[in-house]
This record gives sequence, C-alpha cells and structure tokens, in this order.
Amino acid sequence: MPLKVCIVGAGNMGAHHARAWAASSDAKVVAVCDADKARSEELARELGVTAAVDYRQVIKRGRVDVVSICLPTFLHSEVACFAARQGCHILTEKPLALTVEQGQAMIDAAQRHRVKLAVSLQYRDGWPARCREMIRRGDFGGPVILRFADVREVRPKLAMHRRGMNGGPVIDMACHYFDLMRFLTGGEPRRVFARGHVYGRGKPRLKEVDDFARDAAVITVEYEGGHILDLVVNWGMPEGFPSYTEEILMGPALLARPSAGRLCLQYGDHEEFWNVETLKFPPQQRIADLIAAIREDHAPEIIGEDALIALRVSLAALHSMETGQVVEWTDDRRTR
Ligand SMILES: NC(=O)c1ccc[n+]([C@@H]2O[C@H](COP(=O)([O-])OP(=O)(O)OC[C@H]3O[C@@H](n4cnc5c(N)ncnc54)[C@H](O)[C@@H]3O)[C@@H](O)[C@H]2O)c1
Repeated sequence: MPLKVCIVGAGNMGAHHARAWAASSDAKVVAVCDADKARSEELARELGVTAAVDYRQVIKRGRVDVVSICLPTFLHSEVACFAARQGCHILTEKPLALTVEQGQAMIDAAQRHRVKLAVSLQYRDGWPARCREMIRRGDFGGPVILRFADVREVRPKLAMHRRGMNGGPVIDMACHYFDLMRFLTGGEPRRVFARGHVYGRGKPRLKEVDDFARDAAVITVEYEGGHILDLVVNWGMPEGFPSYTEEILMGPALLARPSAGRLCLQYGDHEEFWNVETLKFPPQQRIADLIAAIREDHAPEIIGEDALIALRVSLAALHSMETGQVVEWTDDRRTR
C-alpha cells in the first residue's frame, strides 16, 4: 500500500515536495494544506488531490501516514508535534526550528509517538557523497577546509529576513553547511566564531520588516580533527545584484570545486572532472530515504538530532556575533 502523504505549505518547497512524493510509486499525495486557500487549491489541482486551509482537519491517524512540512521555520515544531500525536511520520524542511526548545520538542514527540522524523537537509546529496569517500580515504590529505560564499540581493520573501519567521541566513541557509561538514568529515563542531551585520535595513523591498535578522556574516567553525568551515553569507545587497556563490573544498593534496552537475578536482599538476548527479526534484533522495526507513523500520539518514546540532551551531554563531567571543562547543552528544 502506498504511504498517504499530506503536504503542509504550498509555496516553493511545498511544490517541490509534492512533485517529488508524487513521482514515487511507494507514496500517494492525498492532500495539500496552506493557510492561503488559493495556493493550496492550485497545487492540489495540479496533483488531483484534496485542498485544505487548516492542516488539523486533514492530518488524522489512518487518513495520513506522512506529513511533509514546508512552512516558514517558526511553524515547523507546532505542525510536527501535532503530526506525531496523530501517529504520522514527518519529513520537515530545514532548518529544524528557530529555537532549541522547539527542535527538541519535535524530537521528543517523534520518539514518544514512535514515528520517524526526517529533515530535508538535501545539500548532502550529489557531490558531497563522493568527496566524503575521498576525505575518508585520505585523498585530500588533512585536515580539510570548506569555504562557501553566498552573496545575493535582498531576498524577495520577507520571512527570510525576519528573526521571528525563518531567522535570517545564519539559521536558514548556513544550517546546510554546518550539517555538510559533519557529513563530510565525520567530526562534531569544536568552536565557533562569527561576526555579522544587517545590510538589508533601509532597502525598499524590506520596508515592512520590523525584526531584522543579521543578513551578512562571516562564520568560522572548527570541527574535530581540525577541519574548518569558512562561510560568508550576505543576503542584503541592493535589488538587481547578480548572485555570487563560491564553493571550494580543499586539503593539502587536492582542491575540489563543484559546479553545474560537475566536480572539478585540481591536483598539483592536473585536473579531473567528474559528473555528479543532480536531482530532478530536490527532496527526492530524502523522500526515498524516509520511505525505506518507514518500510524497514530503521532511522532515516538525517534525523532530528542532526538538524538540532546544525541549529545549535547557528545559534552559537549568532551568540558569537553578540558577544565578540569564540563559542566553545561543550555538548558532545553524537547522533550516530
Ligand atoms: N531545503 C532547502 O534548500 C530549502 C530551500 C528553500 C526554503 N527551505 C525551507 O522551506 C520552508 C518553506 O520555505 P518556502 O520557500 O517554501 O516558503 P514559501 O513562502 O514559498 O511557502 C510557505 C507557505 O506556507 C504557508 N503558510 C504560512 N503560514 C501557514 C500556516 N499557519 N498554515 C498553513 N500554511 C501556512 C504560506 O501561505 C506559504 O504558501 C522554510 O523553512 C525554508 O527555510 C528549504
């Protein structure tokens, strides 16, 4: 029997989730919920399923097996805890939540009600799986440094700039890289240092925002083994600014540069190019993984605890920006 799936949130990610679930023969989307009636109806019409405004009316034990949460981050916890109480498995968009308390409540609810909680930190899919093997084999030498820069015009969705909605890029975007470093190196965070500003204030597109999150930051995280993440994020450039991103992974023996479905490996005297798979629908891999976890009754690959660690690194970075101090990582809980 295919798993019955309810999509909560019919915006950008909701449409990606809906199409990815619909492409799986092991699942069937049965409903789409969004507070915006027109949005839920449009996506539901595309899929030929029921549309609803209030997710509570739809998520019921027996009627729904899995809830895919694609809402602004501050709502993830409320919906996940409700779904768990109804005995539904959960795939939530990243970041897990805005606060440790909200995230822990999701993990506790999933445990208490014996349902799976998977998180769509999908940057692990694609080139990182290859590089992870190479790091473990010693091809890069060590320790490695991952540098990522993401510079963009002020984001069109106000939620992405609001402290109280998606929390700004230090929570919203950086979580992917905090998670990726653990995946690549197998090490836990050791210390975090960050500085940051608000560049978006005063920009016309953001005139309604009254709780600006920091949107421009430089974050350094050291992981076990001396591996380093160097992250620059800036979502506060003027409208029309062309996006700039840079992603490089290097060690003493090798530098890897992923771009457009290819991975360029630069050694001292030669280069190699590898094709890397790009997914048609971004959460596809996470969905396949959750289906297997449900069918075979094991943990999904990316569990709530992984995403909670990523959130805690974000919060440590924000704390470092407030205090000017290095935050030493004292909690050695591991997820595996
Ligand atoms: N994995 C990724 O790479 C990735 C990329 C983008 C966004 N995200 C995450 O996905 C989540 C959603 O982002 P998005 O870009 O799809 O946002 P979006 O604004 O496009 O969609 C959010 C939807 O939630 C609906 N909504 C708001 N409050 C609601 C409520 N109380 N009940 C029901 N519906 C409600 C809105 O009407 C909207 O349609 C965020 O947590 C974001 O961080 C992840």
